[in-house]
Amino acid sequence: MTLPLAQQTVIITGAGQGLGAAIARRFAAAGAKLALLDYDAVALAETTRACGATAMGIEVDLSDRVATNAAIAKTFGQLGRVHTVVHNAAILRPTRFADEDFESFFHTFNVGVQAGFQLARAVWQGMQDNGGGALIFVSSRSGIEGFAEESAYCATKHALEGLSKSLALEGAPYGITSNTITPGMYMQTPMSARNYSDELKQKWVDPVLLAPAFVLLAERHLQSQNGHRLDAWALSQALCPLAAAG
Ligand SMILES: NC(=O)c1ccc[n+]([C@@H]2O[C@H](COP(=O)([O-])OP(=O)(O)OC[C@H]3O[C@@H](n4cnc5c(N)ncnc54)[C@H](O)[C@@H]3O)[C@@H](O)[C@H]2O)c1
Repeated sequence: MTLPLAQQTVIITGAGQGLGAAIARRFAAAGAKLALLDYDAVALAETTRACGATAMGIEVDLSDRVATNAAIAKTFGQLGRVHTVVHNAAILRPTRFADEDFESFFHTFNVGVQAGFQLARAVWQGMQDNGGGALIFVSSRSGIEGFAEESAYCATKHALEGLSKSLALEGAPYGITSNTITPGMYMQTPMSARNYSDELKQKWVDPVLLAPAFVLLAERHLQSQNGHRLDAWALSQALCPLAAAG
């Protein structure tokens, strides 16, 4: 059953900047109630203000299990049951494996996998009781390929791919969909600004052009899309070819 965003409460992680902020603004425009989670207080305040009265910003370090749980509890307390989770927050710090250390590796892993687990686990029962929900994990080519100097990031994204596939199987009887989605296009975000070559920066697009794909998944227009790995650019282009081309 589809559910318009105007009738939904949605958690978006990493909503302060980049792709997460673009998704938040698009969802707010569609009327969703939003819990926006990020550890960058300044960026979070800006996105929350831009999203309007139905958005609540929660400053939280998602690598911290206790803080993540508190942020989820605050969401339930203020906004009630959650219909969709977009777990988008991620850290990419290119590091040679010989220089990688335990704390840094598991910081990256925890922002992705620990927080992804906690979010999904916390909303699961409510989604079952609601007759469904959407779990959307933002992934990357690093979720299916290895890249040098990205051991923590690749391990994290590969793990999210596995988590999502498993949740898709268990969620299907209850109408809960779980998918990963990769940008599929070079995006102009702070992460990209830090890591792209000058050549790639010539090709990057505003991440707002990738937001239609997230609307589609959140509203569950594609109920058959469960346990898949989707391409946000390709899906968004199919939905809004003019916007994507513009
Ligand atoms: N930029 C790319 O080229 C690219 C490519 C493939 C996949 N992705 C994925 O797309 C998603 C968005 O990427 P982006 O480019 O917008 O990234 P970004 O770094 O520009 O934004 C990430 C957001 O996550 C927040 N964040 C990071 N660590 C956090 C923590 N510990 N607690 C709370 N918030 C935290 C940051 O403050 C920021 O607002 C990520 O999952 C990323 O892996 C990006």
